[in-house]
Amino acid sequence: MSVQGKNIFITGSTRGIGKAIAESFAKNGANVVVNARKEIPAKFLAELTQMGVKAIGVGGDIADFAQAEAMIFEANEKLGPIDVLINNAGITNDKLLLRMSEEDFEKVLKVNLTGTFNMTQAVLKKMLKRKIGSIINISSVVGLMGNVGQANYAASKAGVIGFTKAVAHEVGSRKITVNAIAPGFIQTEMTDNLPDKTKVAILQQIPLKKFGVPSDVAKVAIFLAEADYLTGQVISVDGGLVMNG
Ligand code: NAI
Repeated sequence: MSVQGKNIFITGSTRGIGKAIAESFAKNGANVVVNARKEIPAKFLAELTQMGVKAIGVGGDIADFAQAEAMIFEANEKLGPIDVLINNAGITNDKLLLRMSEEDFEKVLKVNLTGTFNMTQAVLKKMLKRKIGSIINISSVVGLMGNVGQANYAASKAGVIGFTKAVAHEVGSRKITVNAIAPGFIQTEMTDNLPDKTKVAILQQIPLKKFGVPSDVAKVAIFLAEADYLTGQVISVDGGLVMNG
């Protein structure tokens, strides 16, 4: 399906990758729902609206089941039914396993994995009736290959991949596609804080010899939203860091 005129809900979209995805969809003529836990900046919504599309802000925490349902309800009321859901919001809380508390582990799982479940279940109710839709889950290469200090994050992102494939099986007969993107190292606030030594070490392992930018992920999100005969897949956007097959 062309994304032009379609309604897209992007979680965690006031900055970083989510913000770039919102901008790309708007540039391609889609109406967008911008989400964050805090207030959505009116300036960003105005910038999107200037592209000739509708843009609304819907605040709330994806990790809270009732809030997820309420956010999809609000988006439906204000914009109409959602055609594409992009589960982008995510957090890290890096620690070596033996220093990781139960709370450190569960908090990351709760946002990255349970949040994806909460939003997907809420949006699917209408999508299944309408027999149209695309769900794009932002996983990570860390969910494919693991990483020191990220047992919680890796488990959550690997979980997102399993979730993606299971739901793709369940809803395929209703013409709904479900795919995941596994970004590598993308320059955002999430990665800014890493020590320079770590950045240099990562760069050496990337065949394309550069870090990604949020728009690299956004391009693939548009592609997946429009690809009708592609479901249950994980696309790595990582400069070649992880090569399968
Ligand atoms: P970021 O930290 O810059 O942005 C994340 C956004 O999610 C923020 O707007 C934040 O407010 C929002 N968010 C966090 N928890 C939320 C919650 N409970 N409810 C609603 N919104 C919430 O992160 P970035 O780098 O843009 O990452 C976006 C996604 O891409 C995340 O899922 C991340 O795990 C994933 N990713 C990022 C990579 C990178 O190199 N930056 C690499 C691989 C995956």
